[in-house]
Amino acid sequence: MTNILAFIFVVFLSCELAFGSRAKLFSSDSQHRKSSLAPAADGGICELRVAIYGYACEEHTVTTQDGYILSMQRMPTGRSGQTGGDRPPVLLQHGVLMDGITWLLNSPEESLAFILADSGFDVWIANTRGTKYSQGHTSSSTDDSAYWDWSWDELVAYEFPATVQYVNGQTGQKLHYIGHSLGTLIGLASLSQGNQLDLLRSAALLSPIAYLGQVSSVLAQTAAKNFLAEDIYWLGIDEFDPKARPVKNLLKVICKTPGVDCYDLMASFTGKNCCLNSSSVDVFLDNEPQSTSTKNMIHLAQMIRGGTIAMYDYEDEEDNIKHYGQPTPPVYNMTSIPNDFPLFLSYGGADALSDPQDVQIFLDNLKAHDGDKLVVQYQDDYAHADFVMAVNANQVVYDPLMAFFKLQ
Ligand SMILES: *[C@@H]1O[C@H](CO)[C@@H](O)[C@H](O)[C@H]1NC(C)=O
Ligand SMILES: *[C@@H]1O[C@H](CO)[C@@H](O)[C@H](O)[C@H]1NC(C)=O
Repeated sequence: MTNILAFIFVVFLSCELAFGSRAKLFSSDSQHRKSSLAPAADGGICELRVAIYGYACEEHTVTTQDGYILSMQRMPTGRSGQTGGDRPPVLLQHGVLMDGITWLLNSPEESLAFILADSGFDVWIANTRGTKYSQGHTSSSTDDSAYWDWSWDELVAYEFPATVQYVNGQTGQKLHYIGHSLGTLIGLASLSQGNQLDLLRSAALLSPIAYLGQVSSVLAQTAAKNFLAEDIYWLGIDEFDPKARPVKNLLKVICKTPGVDCYDLMASFTGKNCCLNSSSVDVFLDNEPQSTSTKNMIHLAQMIRGGTIAMYDYEDEEDNIKHYGQPTPPVYNMTSIPNDFPLFLSYGGADALSDPQDVQIFLDNLKAHDGDKLVVQYQDDYAHADFVMAVNANQVVYDPLMAFFKLQ
């Protein structure tokens, strides 16, 4: 249970505690939603979060090789509507338990997707399988356990190529990639395999997740060490829905563990975010958290326990041999990321999920990276959510990020 689990739980629980009136939001049972194609009945992300500010926005649908039907949103122009010129495409990949609204939580002056559109980029927002606007599948539905039989390995193997190729196909250009949290791991694991390398210009990693062995979030550590996601799995619950009862009960168990202080959940999970606006926390609560697969949460818990970046461990030699042809899961080798591939990393001193010590282990893998192809930025007061929600992220993170893109 890791970074985002954390992120979400924390945010949504702490708000549940803080604003009792919102409690009904979280008690609604969303266990059995109908499978549907994007855009959803409520009009989808373009209508909800983009059109209201007067920006152009297109809903797109992408089908992965393993049958998942994903929604994507495109912001082809800035607020002025001016087209023309070279608008390099940027693909935005959110983290676990979140969806594409991650990039649209603040005002247009403060949220990365709008800022990129206003700064001359062609913005593409991805939404991972199982989230509200990406629940379609060519042969199964969200009620089937087969639908939830995946971890982030499949996001690397199928979603990353499908979304990158789609954007490239639509624009005819190579793209920049931006990931937050689990979105960074998907990008890094893909790059380490050379996956889609020829279609990418650069990657920006906000609150990077690679190694998780040093996660300082007490809640995430406790959840992982006690195999809590596994408990849910063995109960036969394949969908990890933070709004449904089993996961809420799980949180109660974690919070009763000696040494875990759930009084300030946000801080004990993500670290203490410096710069959130309560208005964006409200937008967050209206739209997040989102479901993921229980298997994905187990995979992340394995990384916290093992401190390695490997594929999902079936925790049975024969099962591993069946899936991988070897008794232990194959490792993602981060030193294989090409030394000349442009990387921008921004991490926070107060981030309990993307822990500075873990980031350092990752950076050790990049020792041979070309000096002019690697920008590493450290924000002392930033925690996990600040990178996408802080009111000052535009100056602190996004301006340097775009300056970096313009050099590539
Ligand atoms: C917080 O959000 C509200 C609503 O978008 C906005 O009016 C206000 O200026 C924001 N505050 C800061 C410090 O950005
Ligand atoms: C990882 O990749 C690097 C560079 O390609 C290689 O030198 C190293 O042997 C690899 N490590 C493992 C464990 O495969």
